[in-house]
Amino acid sequence: MLFKNLNVVTSRGIKNCDILVENGKIKDIGSFSAKGIDFNGSIVIPSVIDMHVHCRDFNQDYKETVETATKAAISKGVTGIVEMPNTSPPVNNEDIFEERRTLFKEKSYCDYGINFSVTDHLTFFDGYKFIKIFLTETTGKLLFKGDLDKLFSHKKPIAVHSDINGIKECVKLSIKYGTKLHVCHVSTKEEIEFLKEYKNENITVEVTPHHLLLPKNSENVKPDLGEKKDREALWKELGKTIDVIASDHAPHTEEEKKKGAYGIPGVETILPLTLDFAFRKKISFETLASLISENPAKIVSDKKGFGIGKDADFTVIEEKEWIVDSKNFYSKSKFSPFDGMKLKGTVKTVILRGEIVCDGETIKKINCKDM
Ligand code: NCD
Ligand code: ZN
Repeated sequence: MLFKNLNVVTSRGIKNCDILVENGKIKDIGSFSAKGIDFNGSIVIPSVIDMHVHCRDFNQDYKETVETATKAAISKGVTGIVEMPNTSPPVNNEDIFEERRTLFKEKSYCDYGINFSVTDHLTFFDGYKFIKIFLTETTGKLLFKGDLDKLFSHKKPIAVHSDINGIKECVKLSIKYGTKLHVCHVSTKEEIEFLKEYKNENITVEVTPHHLLLPKNSENVKPDLGEKKDREALWKELGKTIDVIASDHAPHTEEEKKKGAYGIPGVETILPLTLDFAFRKKISFETLASLISENPAKIVSDKKGFGIGKDADFTVIEEKEWIVDSKNFYSKSKFSPFDGMKLKGTVKTVILRGEIVCDGETIKKINCKDM
């Protein structure tokens, strides 16, 4: 299969090319004379990955399911997600992890990685992306109570939800053992300044669109939304200390939100919001590609990213204005702090491993894979 005349966005710029796809993978990139599907110079973001998604399911399928969350993802151009383990019951042993994997294999509309959680011990098995640890309060009952030093000494990749104190501790231990550390959703100036100073090649840093955009106390989320000085510090480090923008898609019912549940849905707004950043020149398209595609791919999967041999995942976009309306979400969580916002940039076509899975109207389910 030959895709012709695409303008592919990467961290090195926007490059016009044709792409030869075989068995769902990129076989060659260049300029070819053979006939193929003409993309007429459309802008294409390869391999969009949201590294922070809560799909719920199991006992909380009234909030969201793997099916609805991943359908939501693909509908707005996200071709891969990484799922968080604070489900009910939590993904904290090998049997539940395998159950989760089966659920994704059967129901997912996009490719996926699954995180695993520990609170006080570590069971060894393969297949998860990160061991997720919670050092401060949030949805679920997964506060880590074990020995952090021991955990880091195993050298398994760790993703941490924490405040500055826990971040400092984890960074120290990551440096001590050379353990990979992903710092989830930074939210304060203090955190980002600390990370700027101590980050190395084993440490990656994530931010959410809501921590970049929303004022303090305007939404009930964990970590809390910061002040203006915090948001400014985060914006300044996008593409520098900050490697990844992820949504922290955290669906709840309206009733639960009224009662104070933490979190907001985001997997359907992450690409539109970040595209808007690029179209309105708040960040460059090169930085956009690093934050939502290249860096997440580098962090979670050697199959993803843009290059020969990688999965042929492409999101075709258009510079069109539209207004966010959460009533149209595929997520069960039909509310958004971004409702009514006029965004520049829409998703036209989504291609997963060479197959068109969304054409702007219909969504097609193919067999999705663990990344
Ligand atoms: C998340 C959730 O509801 O699962 N809530 C949130 O406010 N972000 C958990 C989390 O990522 O902290
Ligand atoms: Zn989260």
